[in-house]
Amino acid sequence: MAEAKEVDKNVILLPQTNQLIGLYSIIRDQRTKRSDFVFYADRIIRLLVEEGLNQLPVEEAIIKCHGGHEYKGAKFLGKICGVSIVRAGESMEMGLRDCCRSVRIGKILIQRDEETALPKLFYEKLPDDIRDRYIFLLDPMLATGGSAMMAVEVLLSRGVKSEQIFFLNLLAAPEGIKAFHSKYPDVKIITGGIDERLDEDKYIVPGLGDFGDRYYCI
Ligand code: URA
Repeated sequence: MAEAKEVDKNVILLPQTNQLIGLYSIIRDQRTKRSDFVFYADRIIRLLVEEGLNQLPVEEAIIKCHGGHEYKGAKFLGKICGVSIVRAGESMEMGLRDCCRSVRIGKILIQRDEETALPKLFYEKLPDDIRDRYIFLLDPMLATGGSAMMAVEVLLSRGVKSEQIFFLNLLAAPEGIKAFHSKYPDVKIITGGIDERLDEDKYIVPGLGDFGDRYYCI
């Protein structure tokens, strides 16, 4: 099976297989209707979550199999928690739940402050023991990185260490990766695609448009 590649320090790109490129071709197509967008975006989200799980540390576990045979297996070290950046990040919660039964999920709402045009924290709801968990930070588009950086700040203020955080997104802009890692180099970014650039409205190019609108509205 093709393996995800660390294309830069702490930037992990899903293997660009024909299957994955086929999935992106559907969700990037502006003619794709909402039900198909949701179905194929969900498939990519599932791959991102699986890769996030691949990145978690494990310890060796010797398993006793039938007839007393031994299997040298692995056991996850520690618990995880999803944290979605509302609204678009919520689209990734089900993919996480599909892989991790009864996983805890926290939420952070960050919106643009109309006066300053800067991201502003409006709401956070996180499990009390979040500092003891590995965090899957969920936001489908890493554009400028402003919201994700603010979300990481909230997590750090709760005692989470940056090495515990894995930021899962479907598409990333080079500008966003650079800004994010200049502040939080130890957070692992796990992405399905790295696009060319941002346009003047801070949309990813070629991108797929507004992810939240396409997933929830249009
Ligand atoms: N958010 C989106 O939904 N799309 C972009 O291209 C950038 C940010």
